[in-house]
Amino acid sequence: MKILVLNGPNLNLLGQREPAVYGAATLADVESLCRDAAAKAGATAECRQSNHEGLLVDWIQEAGAAWRAGTLLGVVLNAGAYTHTSVALHDAIKGSGVPVIEVHISNVHAREAFRHHSYLSPVAAGIVVGFGIDGYVLAIQGLARRAAAAGGAVRT
Ligand code: DQA
Repeated sequence: MKILVLNGPNLNLLGQREPAVYGAATLADVESLCRDAAAKAGATAECRQSNHEGLLVDWIQEAGAAWRAGTLLGVVLNAGAYTHTSVALHDAIKGSGVPVIEVHISNVHAREAFRHHSYLSPVAAGIVVGFGIDGYVLAIQGLARRAAAAGGAVRT
């Protein structure tokens, strides 16, 4: 079974972007961490990144179809700044029905007020915030355990 890991705008700059906030790991490091975590959970991770809101919407719709077909456990999504602005991503998650775990590397609630509101949280299956890049691992484990509890084949 597959897990889709989606990273949104500016996360391609991980490692060089505000390292005091986001750490030194690059996006390639994060994606390799995700592939390892998925393998340990008996799944495979497919990782994608885009700076474009519409492409993230397309991928969530695609994930909904794969989830309904039984080939996808769910999506781990760090939507970056679109978290705080995007009704389109909210609607895509809600409309697709696919379980989405919202991830933020930083603790957005300890930062600027404009980062405190998320359009995604009300439609997310779970939220992992402020654990650094380990948050992706926790989200993958959570998705796998959730599927196992629901009677899926994946065991952690
Ligand atoms: C982020 C937090 C967002 O507020 C910010 O716009 C990002 C990264 C995080 O992972 O902490 O781009 O999602």
